Amino acid sequence: MFSLPALSPATSLPTQVDAVVVGLADSSSGPVLVGAETLSASYAKRTGSSLLDAAQAVGATTKPGDAVVLPSSEHVVIVAGLGDADVTPERVRKAAAAALKRACALASDREMTVALSLDLADPEIVAAATYGALLATYHYAKPNEKPSGAIAQVTLVAPKDCHTAASEASVVAEAVALARDWVNTPANVLFPASFAQLAAESVRSLKLDVEVLDEKALAKGGFGGLMAVGGGSANPPRLVRITYSPRGAKTHLALIGKGITFDTGGLNLKPATGMYTMKCDMGGAAAVLAAVRAIAQLGLKIKVSAYAAMAENMPSGTAYRPSDVLTMHSGLTVENANSDAEGRLVMADALSYAGESKPDFMVDVATLTGACLVALGHTTTGLMANDDQAADRLLDAAEAAGEATWHLPITDEVTDGIKDSDVADLKSSGAREGGALAAAAFLREFVPQGTPWAHLDIAGPGWAEKAHDEVSKGGTGAGVRTLVELARQLAR
Ligand code: BES
Ligand code: ZN
Ligand code: ZN
Repeated sequence: MFSLPALSPATSLPTQVDAVVVGLADSSSGPVLVGAETLSASYAKRTGSSLLDAAQAVGATTKPGDAVVLPSSEHVVIVAGLGDADVTPERVRKAAAAALKRACALASDREMTVALSLDLADPEIVAAATYGALLATYHYAKPNEKPSGAIAQVTLVAPKDCHTAASEASVVAEAVALARDWVNTPANVLFPASFAQLAAESVRSLKLDVEVLDEKALAKGGFGGLMAVGGGSANPPRLVRITYSPRGAKTHLALIGKGITFDTGGLNLKPATGMYTMKCDMGGAAAVLAAVRAIAQLGLKIKVSAYAAMAENMPSGTAYRPSDVLTMHSGLTVENANSDAEGRLVMADALSYAGESKPDFMVDVATLTGACLVALGHTTTGLMANDDQAADRLLDAAEAAGEATWHLPITDEVTDGIKDSDVADLKSSGAREGGALAAAAFLREFVPQGTPWAHLDIAGPGWAEKAHDEVSKGGTGAGVRTLVELARQLAR
């Protein structure tokens, strides 16, 4: 399992540290070092030359994402590009990530400590630096891997009033890493029952309220979507609820996540290329479970319930068929158009179950549609909602959390499409065009009337084909930062 470096905020540069990260930014008089005052002075005294000249001699640039290593007798200096002098959270996150990747390469066979000295003076920017630095060090350990070198500690230099932001961001970064680990765990190890157990274990010390509905309880409760999708697999489905309910909370936020531990497509089998990465199809469940844990650890004053709809979508003699009609937990009937559109069926049951507790706000997260990936690419989350104010709240939270998110409409065209069944109330999918919107239109039918709801389709950003910035290859933990930020804003 993962282990991120410990984060300690400090007001000045520690003397005992293996590597120091400083910035390089554009200014009207050319590139200038940032956060390097004491270091520059001691460097000049020791060597008789300037640290800036030395950095530029080894190729340091101001481009965010560029970082170079400058060996120095005192400690290693890493110079990270910051763009222009007017820093933004995004540039700082990129710079911190690039610098820490350099540090990780140096720490391949030994333990190291790193200090980040980038003149950070704003809580949002400090949080961005923390995310960049810690998450860039994430590495999924192979089952038999022996631990080798690592970054043991990151000291973040910032004014005292930014220290809480740094510590809180490090709690959220841990949650992102936990979600990444769950997504990266292969589906023969992480299946509904084992995932449910891992989820329960992850909050054991926090004493949260955990409910796990197994296949018997799901059948009894009429969860026709979860039972149909899970029915083709030898690994039966689960519905997990984890609730954090602090004293004095005025708002109840329900988070619902898609937990398909492997999506073969079922009888509408996926081609080999599309199937290979489908252990990622529980990334939404991982996000909501990791988020509620972080929200509890932070002690935010808001009630949060995370619901994870877990099933394995397999083709077999007991698999559900295209054209089957399912009676859902809500009582609505659904004609299954295509067994590869399984996510919306398990999510529909989880949404109506969550709705029974009358939450004030519902947000679901799902690797739901290939169409969203085609529309927005690998790094932007699709956002759809039943209410423009709900959508705006999510956009604000995503922006503050640094997760690119774009609002898409739920049109009448696609809504008509999912209502066009000869044999049931709804059809699980309509035309190919606007597939992401149609999936959202379908989910909306299972949200209680009048409850603000937003849907995050993370089919693109939930999985990374290659590492970039603070994002590691494989599971990304997409959604976690946005959900925790939303809870923080709703708790105000
Ligand atoms: N899990 C997939 C969506 C997906 C695709 C996630 C690529 C991540 C990367 C989902 O269950 C699916 O297969 N959806 C179908 C729906 C269609 C049959 C209506 C799709 O998008 O093709
Ligand atoms: Zn599918
Ligand atoms: Zn799926």
